[in-house]
Amino acid sequence: MPQDIFQNIGKILITEEQIKAKIAELGKIISNDYRDKNLLMVGVLKGSVVFMTDLMRALDINCKIDFMAVSSYGSGTKSTGNVNILMDLRKDVAGYDVLIAEDILDSGVTLSKVKELILSRKPASLKIATLLDKPSRRKVPLQTDYTGFVIPDEFVVGYGLDFDEDYRNLPYIGVLKPEAYEKHE
Ligand code: IMP
Ligand code: MG
Repeated sequence: MPQDIFQNIGKILITEEQIKAKIAELGKIISNDYRDKNLLMVGVLKGSVVFMTDLMRALDINCKIDFMAVSSYGSGTKSTGNVNILMDLRKDVAGYDVLIAEDILDSGVTLSKVKELILSRKPASLKIATLLDKPSRRKVPLQTDYTGFVIPDEFVVGYGLDFDEDYRNLPYIGVLKPEAYEKHE
């Protein structure tokens, strides 16, 4: 892997500072909403890890965590529509106030599937927090309860989001130059 790969970032859409400020804000709201509850934060691997680990440290209440892994994308930039559960939760969510943490709500296919699965296991409540929301691409009617940023229809990477498994460790949200993914499609 050539190490100049970050040169494929055309522009920074959301800076590290903007993300930090937004997560502090979300952390306060979520702490207040869950103060008397039994919060279990569920991360959807892998894209959510950076957001989730920052968000959980922005809370001033206790939370438990668990993870599940799903796949819907191939290596391209559009959802295939098929959602596969690659790894299920370890915890029985019954009785917990579950908050799903995700990197982005795009077509909604992935999260609606995850939501349906968790609801079938009778949590005390279920809400969704995503760092990003791309409402223009929605195929399934779904809304988040906590959203960091609403973004236009551009393929973004960084802060957990990948293109073909790269760029996840960038500390900001960037837009790839089109030539960086066109050759893959
Ligand atoms: P959905 O099922 O179309 O809502 O897709 C959700 C998943 O697709 C997210 O968890 C991401 O992993 C991925 N995804 C959607 N949009 C983007 C993007 O702009 N950049 C990187 N990954 C994305
Ligand atoms: Mg993901």
